[in-house]
Amino acid sequence: MVDSLPWMLGLRPAAPSSAALRARVAGRLVVVTGASRGVGAETAGRLALAGARIVLLARRSEALETVAHGIRRRGGDADCLAVDVGDTEAAEGAGRTILERWGAPEVVVSNAGFSLRRTLLASADRPRDVARTIGTNYTGPVALLRLLIPAMVDAGRGHVVSVASTSVDIPAPGWSLYGASKSAMDAWLRAVALEVRSSGVAMTTIRLPLVHTAMSAPTAAYSRVPALRPVDAAKLVARAIVDRPLLISPWWSRLASVLLAVEPRLLDPVVGGWDRMIDRGDR
Ligand SMILES: NC(=O)c1ccc[n+]([C@@H]2O[C@H](COP(=O)([O-])OP(=O)(O)OC[C@H]3O[C@@H](n4cnc5c(N)ncnc54)[C@H](OP(=O)(O)O)[C@@H]3O)[C@@H](O)[C@H]2O)c1
Repeated sequence: MVDSLPWMLGLRPAAPSSAALRARVAGRLVVVTGASRGVGAETAGRLALAGARIVLLARRSEALETVAHGIRRRGGDADCLAVDVGDTEAAEGAGRTILERWGAPEVVVSNAGFSLRRTLLASADRPRDVARTIGTNYTGPVALLRLLIPAMVDAGRGHVVSVASTSVDIPAPGWSLYGASKSAMDAWLRAVALEVRSSGVAMTTIRLPLVHTAMSAPTAAYSRVPALRPVDAAKLVARAIVDRPLLISPWWSRLASVLLAVEPRLLDPVVGGWDRMIDRGDR
């Protein structure tokens, strides 16, 4: 039973066939943000193996070069662009550079993210938390996509895959800023999807549950909880690129959002119990 839990919770997804992925990305330009480690690095490797020409974005250029080197060693094609996407001017500059150097992308995987588990009371004297979380997870990605999406519309094709979180569906203590920033991005992309759908450009949001990466590692208790691995999250991105749905999220997260729409306090005991368990396990 415990062994099958990851499958029951949808944490071991199947990848699309390599032929289907290749048909979407081989020889085409794919931009992956947050590609210096974790989900982004794993995704970039998988897409490069399917023949995509990858442009990797993140702040740390050395880490990006390491990922790019690994891709090239396996015969893939990768370039790097170091940028802080949390800085809207820098994100816009990166958008302009991408269009000038490489042209309109076929796919943009908007994956760079900043995670913060901190209650309002604990962050009362940390005003920078707000700007950093909203900047990295919302206003920065919007600044980048504001330039890239029109170029994709002009090209008559393209796809944006935005990596969000199940905290969009399930608000939880400590996740106010993170959940709000991911929800804002989610709402922005859904509206843009309607605006551009006749142009051949598609939008997908993936609401990821917990993934065992450097991001979740500071909360020690998470290491004992069933979660996606980076390879699983990369499979979900590949699935998104092949099927182009509006939303990918675990069944239990969708169920929670429906239950909360009907009765907003219904899950308080479950969410509170989960939070106390994580806190206890973390001490
Ligand atoms: N891990 C989880 O449990 C989990 C759950 C749900 C959703 N997600 C989402 O999944 C995505 C990937 O997360 P992950 O677990 O792979 O995290 P990670 O291992 O911390 O990787 C985050 C990536 O984003 C980049 N990044 C962070 N801030 C940036 C900035 N200001 N400008 C440019 N790049 C930046 C990092 O590179 P640099 O440090 O080099 O800039 C890194 O490549 C994120 O959007 C996250 O919110 C994660």
